[in-house]
Formats: sequence, C-alpha cells, structure tokens
Amino acid sequence: MAYGQHRSPFDTAHGYTYQDVLAASERINWRVEDLIGGDRRLDFTKPFMPEALARTEALTFLTPRERLTLNQIRGYEYLCIFGLVEEFILPFVLDHARPHLDENDWRTRAFLQFASEEAKHIHLFKRFRDEFQKDFGTTVDVIGPPAEIAKAVLAHDALAVAILILHIEWMTQQHYLHSVKEDHNLDPLFKSMLRHHWMEEAQHAKLDTLMVEALAAGRSEDAIMAAMAEYLEIGAMIDGGLQAQMDFNLDGLHRATGRNCEPLSPTERDEIAMVQWQAMRWTYIGSGMTHPKFVQTLTTLTPKAADMVAGVAPAFC
Ligand SMILES: [Fe+2]
Ligand SMILES: [Fe+2]
Repeated sequence: MAYGQHRSPFDTAHGYTYQDVLAASERINWRVEDLIGGDRRLDFTKPFMPEALARTEALTFLTPRERLTLNQIRGYEYLCIFGLVEEFILPFVLDHARPHLDENDWRTRAFLQFASEEAKHIHLFKRFRDEFQKDFGTTVDVIGPPAEIAKAVLAHDALAVAILILHIEWMTQQHYLHSVKEDHNLDPLFKSMLRHHWMEEAQHAKLDTLMVEALAAGRSEDAIMAAMAEYLEIGAMIDGGLQAQMDFNLDGLHRATGRNCEPLSPTERDEIAMVQWQAMRWTYIGSGMTHPKFVQTLTTLTPKAADMVAGVAPAFC
C-alpha cells in the first residue's frame, strides 16, 4: 500500500485518503480574526438563516419584524448548537488519533489538523455569539452546559459517536450547498461564517468516513447494528434538547419583540412551536440522516444500517 494511502476494509468507491484530505485542508487557511471583530458587525436588518432551515415566513400572524427576529434567534441557536457538538467532536477526534500517532504520518497530521480546525470553529462560534449578545438587546437562553452534553454523548460506543459525527459533517455540507450558498438576502457576515465553516467541514466529512470504516472494521453485522441503535439513542437525546431549545427561542422572541405585554394566543404559540420544532429537527437531524453520502457509508457497513435510518428519517424532515 502506498504510504499515506488508506485501504478501507469495506467495499467503497469514495477514494478518500489522509494525504489528499490534508492537502485540501492546507489550501484553506482562514483565521477567526478575519471573519469577525473590529468594524465587522452583524447586520440586524437582515436574516441570518436561510428560510429552508429557519421556516419563519409561514408564521404570517407574526409581523415581518417579528419573523426576522425569530430568524435571527435561529441563527444564534445555530451558533450554540454547533458550539455544543464541536465540544464533543474535538476530544473524540483526538482520542481516535492518539493510540496510532506513530503508524502513519499522513493520518496523524490529517486528524490533528481536523482537531485544530474544530477548536478554531468553537472559537469562531463563541465570537459570533458574543457579537450577537452585544447587539441583539435581549437574552436568549441555551441548552447545556456543553461539557455535560459532551460527557453524555461520549459515554456511548465509539462507532455510534463516529456515525453521529459523520451525520453532522454531511449535514453542514447540505446546509451550505442547498440552502445558504444561493441565498443573497442573508447578512453577509453570518453567511461568510457559514461559508468558511463549510469549507473546512468538507474535509472533516471525508476523515469521518475513514474513521467510521476503521471503527467498524472486523465487527459483525449485529455489533454494527448495536452501534446504530446507540446512534439513534443519541439522536433522541438531541431531539429532546432541540425541543427545550425551541422553548427558549420562543421565550427570547417574546422578550425581544415586547410580546410579553401583548402575548401570542395559545393557538399561535402552539403553531410556532410545531413549525419551529420541525424546522429544528430538519436542520440538525433530518438533513444529516438523508444526506446521500451519509446513507452511502451506512450502506457499505451494512444495508440494514441504511434501512434503519431510512425508517426514522421522515419524522425529522
Ligand atoms: Fe466544525
Ligand atoms: Fe467538523
């Protein structure tokens, strides 16, 4: 085998190698300081999230300004949720790399670069959160704390966590390419953050594919399906977190728009909750579960894994 090449134990056609992924990653070289800070400020006259993810425009009983505020709260939530998931991705990738540091220099360098980029993303999302909090005017609570959520996720089978991370990385690709890229109404600063994140996540998705294949190698179909069941368990935990976050978002909307004085009717609040929870489910769960590359990797592990996900995905779309 050529040095730096990866031969998967599975019959895959992806052709990903540590060497190629590292080379692509090294060509992309941005700094947090270049994206936010100084005179680079969020523009609160514009939406932060594409409508395909925010799903605020159908809530016509809200005023246009209220719908825009809810969209921006969804942007803040996106920063917070990604901040949370990166908190468990970073230690997981380091733990995956560490026992094999002396075996393949390309592998070691690719995973350390991956970890370094995720540490940078954690910093990036925090800086955007700071800017949001400075100018938004009211607080929006967030689920957490991130360390506790990371601990709960990392307590699972490593293959289940790697599958979840693969889902998250492809989900980020879906968000940018299918919803963000062609949306020219978004705040340019927020869009630039999403674009720069996407650029690096494209490499992570490939490394995660190699990571999943390495962790699944030698496992029986039953053992792979046991990991799949744990992946769905973590998904259910995340879904519960999304519902809690949706309530925080609506409380934030009430505070930010003065609806505390003139509250929404119970029917209106129920409708926002229903639309928004489903929007969040699509954003963080459905868009990952249905990504063709994610499904393809599951199929190579065992078609049963892909079938399992196909059975539950419609509830999150
Ligand atoms: Fe990231
Ligand atoms: Fe990533």
